[in-house]
Amino acid sequence: MTAVADPATPIRWGFIGAGGIAHKLATDIALTDGNVVVAVAARDAGRAADFARRHKVERSYGSYEQLVADENVDVVYVATTHPGHKAQSLMAIEAGRSLLIEKPVCLNAADAREVFRAADAAGVFAMEAMWMRCNPLVLRAEQLIAEGAIGEVCGVRFEFGLGRRFDPGDRLFEMANGGGALLDLGIYPVSFAWHFLGCPDEVRTVGTLSPTGSDDTVAMQWVYAGVPRAQLWCSATVLAPNEAAILGTDGWIRFEPMAHRPTGLVVCRGESQDRIADPIEGQGYGYCPQVLEVERCLRAGLTESPLVPPADTVAILELLDEARASLGVVYPGET
Ligand SMILES: NC(=O)c1ccc[n+]([C@@H]2O[C@H](COP(=O)([O-])OP(=O)(O)OC[C@H]3O[C@@H](n4cnc5c(N)ncnc54)[C@H](OP(=O)(O)O)[C@@H]3O)[C@@H](O)[C@H]2O)c1
Repeated sequence: MTAVADPATPIRWGFIGAGGIAHKLATDIALTDGNVVVAVAARDAGRAADFARRHKVERSYGSYEQLVADENVDVVYVATTHPGHKAQSLMAIEAGRSLLIEKPVCLNAADAREVFRAADAAGVFAMEAMWMRCNPLVLRAEQLIAEGAIGEVCGVRFEFGLGRRFDPGDRLFEMANGGGALLDLGIYPVSFAWHFLGCPDEVRTVGTLSPTGSDDTVAMQWVYAGVPRAQLWCSATVLAPNEAAILGTDGWIRFEPMAHRPTGLVVCRGESQDRIADPIEGQGYGYCPQVLEVERCLRAGLTESPLVPPADTVAILELLDEARASLGVVYPGET
């Protein structure tokens, strides 16, 4: 049995980037039994060392190259801003490392395809960190729908607004850093609708741009065989309750209080409403199910997660590419 397959040996994580999301994932990894962060790299060695001290990580590096060369890392977590994901992922794959890559995996579908093809050729595991797909309540909703709890699914609503004040230096608005509401926030409603409704026949997109040219507020109407079924909305600057619902012929399911990290489901059937509570409520930032999914896949020798397969990730990025194209949002280096 390999060390990774042995449940008595923790999966050893190495982090590329020591920013906001890296701190949160390290905190949640520490809550699991079978995983440990053993190395972290930042562009600045001191910043990596601070991160290592705070999270009790054994090794810290001042370059991403050193991290991927570390033979005692089982899985690399790419936690940098989006434009770096492609090159850093390819570098890790070349070194034979498995990967969890923050969302969006890449700026566009073409780059994502390249990363997943390389992972496939190298026989290493690669998954987008679309943690919402691993959330137990999202899986529960899927099960309820399969059991016919709300009849036939007719529609999906999902909004995600952050209410961030415009600042050209904030990565959410900075084009050179992959700024824009669609890739940061819209990826959640798009993943959700894609999962529960499948690929739309037609997408109508309207939106506004920020002064830097990044997409700011975007609404999408997804149409299936002429019927509008998904209303999806995201905004960098407008604050919203961030609710979602799946509508069926016999009822609906509401995700609360925040759709991308639900802590409760309300299931309405006719006159009755039942609330299903989050089985992991209060457990860290909500990333543990994603960590456990990576652990499960690595121990089983899988190269992709059935919950977040590369084909889904690429198809979702294709829809985001189309939405961006219709708004005229092009990142530096894209043609
Ligand atoms: N899954 C989630 O819930 C979630 C939540 C937030 C963000 N994210 C994703 O995680 C990624 C990072 O977001 P974040 O909020 O953690 O961002 P952040 O706090 O600004 O951290 C950005 C990280 O990117 C690295 N970086 C590399 N090149 C950079 C550059 N040119 N400019 C700025 N930073 C650069 C920095 O690395 P060093 O440490 O080496 O300096 C830093 O660690 C994004 O792709 C985002 O979409 C996911």
